[in-house]
Amino acid sequence: MSWSRPRSIASAPFELAAKEPILLFCAGSGWHSARWFEGKWVDSATLLQELVPTHWMPSPPSIVPLRTSHQETSTRVNYQRFFQTALDGLVTEQRYRIFADLERVAGKFPRAIWHSPQGKRDIVVWCSNDYLGMGQNPDVVEVMASTARALGTGAGGTRNISGNSHPVVELERELADLHGKEAALVFTSGYISNQAGISTIAKLIPDCLILSDANNHNSMIEGIRQSGCERLIFRHNDLDHLGRLLCEAGSRPKLVVFESVYSMDGDVSPIGGICDLAERHDALTYLDEVHAVGMYGTRGGGIAEREGVMDRIDIIEGTLGKAFGVLGGYIAASRRIVDAVRSFAPGFIFTTALPPAVAAAAAASVRHLKGSSTERNEHQRTVEKVKAALKNAGLPLMDSDTHIVPVMVGDAQRCRALTDRLLEKHDIYIQPINYPTVSKGTERLRITPTPFHTDADIVHLTRALHECWQAVPADPVPFLQAAE
Ligand SMILES: Cc1ncc(COP(=O)(O)O)c(C=O)c1O
Repeated sequence: MSWSRPRSIASAPFELAAKEPILLFCAGSGWHSARWFEGKWVDSATLLQELVPTHWMPSPPSIVPLRTSHQETSTRVNYQRFFQTALDGLVTEQRYRIFADLERVAGKFPRAIWHSPQGKRDIVVWCSNDYLGMGQNPDVVEVMASTARALGTGAGGTRNISGNSHPVVELERELADLHGKEAALVFTSGYISNQAGISTIAKLIPDCLILSDANNHNSMIEGIRQSGCERLIFRHNDLDHLGRLLCEAGSRPKLVVFESVYSMDGDVSPIGGICDLAERHDALTYLDEVHAVGMYGTRGGGIAEREGVMDRIDIIEGTLGKAFGVLGGYIAASRRIVDAVRSFAPGFIFTTALPPAVAAAAAASVRHLKGSSTERNEHQRTVEKVKAALKNAGLPLMDSDTHIVPVMVGDAQRCRALTDRLLEKHDIYIQPINYPTVSKGTERLRITPTPFHTDADIVHLTRALHECWQAVPADPVPFLQAAE
């Protein structure tokens, strides 16, 4: 939007100026605006004075006259139009997101009720990040319910104001132990733990250079941005590139920020190799294990535990909202780093703590998965079965080293059409993955099997996908036309 300069009223016919919603006039105290009201120009601030206008201001495109019942012409910013324009852009680019209205049914995971426009329907969810179904584990549910009954619902405020609730203290002990670190700090989500953790840690290191993997999650990018530190992006999982950048950086302080499992491709980073480089070049390491905690390693400590390198990572970040099935995020690190983040991170200090019932349920889930590999083993078995079935059916499965099963579509409209058909015709819910979650042209279905999907579910999924792939042509009618 660009404003024109005020023009002298003499430069335009008065009728034209009178049609404009804003009129400027020059008074002893400077420029003022005026509006046309009941046949005369009045000072907008007071609505009292009759004026002789001196200048007029052609209105910018986003300002439109508003007619009142008195046929008054007034100047109003059309705020709604800003939002509508932004949303229209998403629809045009086929990226407008539609979320299914679902009701998960405790004890029947991964089954749910879809509140479709035509009424309730039973469906099977194939895209949940409650990877192990712990969100419906009877013990975890019972701990949450009984803690809420015993301690109430909310945390009562920030930890700064209201102190620690005991379940949060216990949860932090469980998490520090899970990752073999001195301490842990819990946040309200994994997103916030990255944003607050990375920004605070980097800010506290003078002249810190951040080296960030090209495929890092948005929460890490926001943390990096918020730190205000210089940053360099290394090519995804490319040790040579990272090594060169570390070498060129010389002796200044450096923080290498990366993930273990990249959740859209399902690939795994070379954690050991990154640790070798970081140690050689004296850099600190920050590892996001959000898509691995609970699922890999003998006790669910993540890929770093599985690879025996947890002690070589300085800061491990995780979520309590995916494989642990609850909500919240955390970092685990040395006592000093954790204390510094606790003391300096606005995203920790100025927000209400996790409710005690949520913390207690998360601790119960972490504890359970430390002692039980049953869920992890069953999960991997189901994943292998799904991959084999889809491959045999000739579907364009992407290579994945993990529990994430991406199927390439490569087109936003087709991706949406496929998932709509899966839901409407086959009672299968898979959310389409479009830009900006993945780059344009790599739109995909992201399938996440769980230990609770049965062999019959896998057959159903495979047949349904096969049918949809035949029925939805590679070049479908545009989304907008199809929706009409
Ligand atoms: C790599 C990664 N880090 C962090 C997060 C944020 O975690 P949370 O969902 O607990 O906020 C996500 C969310 O999907 C993620 O994929």
